[in-house]
Amino acid sequence: MKLFKGRIVSFKSDEKTIDIPDGYIIVDDMGKIIEVGQKKIPSGEFEVFDFSKFVIFPGFFDIHVHLPQFDQRARWGKNLLEWLEHYIFPAEQKFARDEVARDTARRFFNSLVSNGTTTAVIYSSAHRSATEIAFEEARKIGIRALIGQVLMDRNAPLEMLTTPERAKKDIEAVASQWHGYDDRLFYVVTPRFAISCSMELMKAASEVAVANGLYIQSHLSEQVPEVEFVRELFPDIPNYTSVYHAAGLLGEKTIMAHAIHLSDKELELLRDTGTKIAHCPSSNFFLHSGRMDMELIEKYDLDVGVGSDVAGGPFINMLEVLRDAYYANRISPIKAFYHLTLGGAKVLGWETKVGTIEPGREADFTIIDPRPLANVNDELTDVLAKLMFLGDDRNVVATFVRGKQIWHK
Ligand code: GUN
Ligand code: ZN
Repeated sequence: MKLFKGRIVSFKSDEKTIDIPDGYIIVDDMGKIIEVGQKKIPSGEFEVFDFSKFVIFPGFFDIHVHLPQFDQRARWGKNLLEWLEHYIFPAEQKFARDEVARDTARRFFNSLVSNGTTTAVIYSSAHRSATEIAFEEARKIGIRALIGQVLMDRNAPLEMLTTPERAKKDIEAVASQWHGYDDRLFYVVTPRFAISCSMELMKAASEVAVANGLYIQSHLSEQVPEVEFVRELFPDIPNYTSVYHAAGLLGEKTIMAHAIHLSDKELELLRDTGTKIAHCPSSNFFLHSGRMDMELIEKYDLDVGVGSDVAGGPFINMLEVLRDAYYANRISPIKAFYHLTLGGAKVLGWETKVGTIEPGREADFTIIDPRPLANVNDELTDVLAKLMFLGDDRNVVATFVRGKQIWHK
């Protein structure tokens, strides 16, 4: 059994926190939290992790990030469609080579865990082999991850295109090996977006996802020229969201990123299908996509997590992404950290498994040293504000998944 000491902070809602200064957590050998308490530590044989000067947060979630774009951060000056064509597609094409896929995956996962991310929802490239390599490297490092091969059958370089039949085969082959591995790795079916997918490909994607209980992810309504292009490509369908609905892609296991330029009808459709939203504020600023209106999303009661969207967003560190969430919507630090933790878990339907630090949950922790920005026992909202506005990887001390230390300084 393991014993963790520190200030334990988790977020039950966007207003309610659990804050235990001088707290302790007992974790069993299966990685489950069996007790959370304060001060008087029960006697017993423990492996002790003394984080008394640190804050123990639930592990951070990055629910939208592109592995093969890791080295394409800071490619500035273009709008989304130009940026994809000019920088991103050529970079992703290189993942046809296993050496590139392996080397990048290693560096990418190391960067995620050293920045405090314990769960990530990941786009791989258009290659089956690179996707398998991503799963292998995720397994080795110990992170929780959902990973999917990017599907496209038009409006992208020829070598990156698939067909509905081949897409199904690729997904079935990789998902049969990895979906549910160690109850930690999962397959997410990944039609890139409606511009680069025919209706046939999107329907094939939704069929294989439903038949195998897989997650689904895509991009929705990120930039105005993209929305206009979708209208041209699907003239008989009333709006962008309805294109995905017609393909059978919306639902409770679906995460749509961005969700910026949406009508009330589209928001209703997202709500009625239980579709989840990945809010990617840093990307929305970097690519000048527009502002996701959090109040509007809340009005429709949609579940929202936070995504770095590397390389649309330049930051892999989620504290830096939270900062941009504030600039976009003036949300409180508590709300920001809620979306980063339990909000992310809810998006995946994992809210009874991870996302808070309570008995019965699995022990995913991000250990944060608030110094020199704040001291561990300062007033909570002040500690959170300092981390949200000034924090970065220097504040991350260690990351744990299911009680196992997967990274430390
Ligand atoms: N829309 C389609 N593909 C992408 C991508 O790779 N990044 C972002 N930000 N938007 C997209
Ligand atoms: Zn993206």
